[in-house]
Amino acid sequence: MDKIIIEGGRQLHGEVRISGAKNAALPLMAATLLCPGKHILHNVPDLRDTRTMLNLLEILGAKWEKVGETTLHINSDEVDKFEASYDLVKTMRASVLVLGPLLARLGRARVSLPGGCAIGARPIDFHMQGLKKLGVSLTLQQGYVEGAAEDGLQGGTVYFDVPSVTGTENILMAAVLARGTTIIKNAAREPEIGNLINMLTDMGGRIEGRGTDKLTIHGVQKLKAVEATIIPDRIETGTYLIAVGAAGGDMTLTHCNPSHLPSLIEKLRTVGLEIEEGDTAIRVKRVGPLTSVDIKTMPYPGFPTDLQAQIMTLMTFSKGLSVIHESIFENRFMHVAELRRMGADIRVDGGRAVVNGLGKLMGAPVMATDLRASASLVVAGLAAEGTTEISRVYHLDRGYDDLVGKLKGVGAEIRREKE
Ligand code: EPZ
Repeated sequence: MDKIIIEGGRQLHGEVRISGAKNAALPLMAATLLCPGKHILHNVPDLRDTRTMLNLLEILGAKWEKVGETTLHINSDEVDKFEASYDLVKTMRASVLVLGPLLARLGRARVSLPGGCAIGARPIDFHMQGLKKLGVSLTLQQGYVEGAAEDGLQGGTVYFDVPSVTGTENILMAAVLARGTTIIKNAAREPEIGNLINMLTDMGGRIEGRGTDKLTIHGVQKLKAVEATIIPDRIETGTYLIAVGAAGGDMTLTHCNPSHLPSLIEKLRTVGLEIEEGDTAIRVKRVGPLTSVDIKTMPYPGFPTDLQAQIMTLMTFSKGLSVIHESIFENRFMHVAELRRMGADIRVDGGRAVVNGLGKLMGAPVMATDLRASASLVVAGLAAEGTTEISRVYHLDRGYDDLVGKLKGVGAEIRREKE
């Protein structure tokens, strides 16, 4: 396993190019299962999770090739397998996204239950309840979800207790080829879902309500392969904005979409950062001491849970109290123990963490526990006094494309070594 070593205290100056969004690339890659033909996806990030998804598509019968740095050609003519095995799904929960398209295309699917992960139980009960409403018969056997819809799917009304991102995506992909109309109520509204809706519409799907919490899908007989472009990664963007807040400096992020980060940008302005928004670029400057703010994570367009760990790190560099309420996942404070090792004063009580900002952290050996927690430790190391060593960085590789290279490019003293 590799580790990352950071000498803290260097400001970040220059330009970083934002990659395509992991959480858009994964559903759009799964959507290529819906119909034969050659699909072309642009702006695909090079991540462990996208490589895992390609591996899964190949196992199901698709063929793919990479063209240039970020374009994928995926030919799904010969997709005739319908099983996603445990050893694949346990490494990436988002493998569950093949359920909907496989049922729509083949009328069958056998997908391993994902199992929990560091941030929570991560059940898929909403996915299963929704698919049953579309006429799928689902059984649970030896840790696998077996779904069958021999005479095809039929439209129905699906209501989500909480707006599930991949749940909404799975039902969208199943409904687009169902007989009749499907309505999804309390649908998630993340920009990645809009990206998927655009692709399904270009494929011939008929979907109303993009960007709202009520989606209406009129099933069609047939879809066609298309070209689609992955939207910029808003969580990668937010991570770099927060890194400048912690380490200081003046950075411009390019190939991003500022309108996808309404809550974070407002919070960072309150914290005291200077932020200029363009159409596809953001400039961020640290101009003085940081103000503590309170955070509550919420479904989009609220504050993203995927930026909670990173903003918690930022609050350790402010002076004052900050209450961080994680309302989406039940165990997403794994980074707290590691930040404490760096001298942070943080108290956790259930879903709330109270940060008593001391204005500084001390470098230390720490351990990554999950994708976004590891990003929060990198942010901490950039601004801490002294050296920080982060182990188990394979977590980072899941969701950040060339993080070390991008940070080196703006002046960070950061390197990666074999552990
Ligand atoms: C997506 O996960 C993202 N992953 C997550 O990003 C993100 O944190 C999450 O949405 C919330 O925004 C991808 O898009 C691949 P949910 P997802 O279903 O769809 C509960 C990252 O770091 N729930 O919106 O799995 C669930 O436990 C990852 O990039 C059920 O109870 O999340 C959670 O409390 C981490 N039953 C809440 O709903 C279900 O069937 C929201 O989860 C589904 C979800």
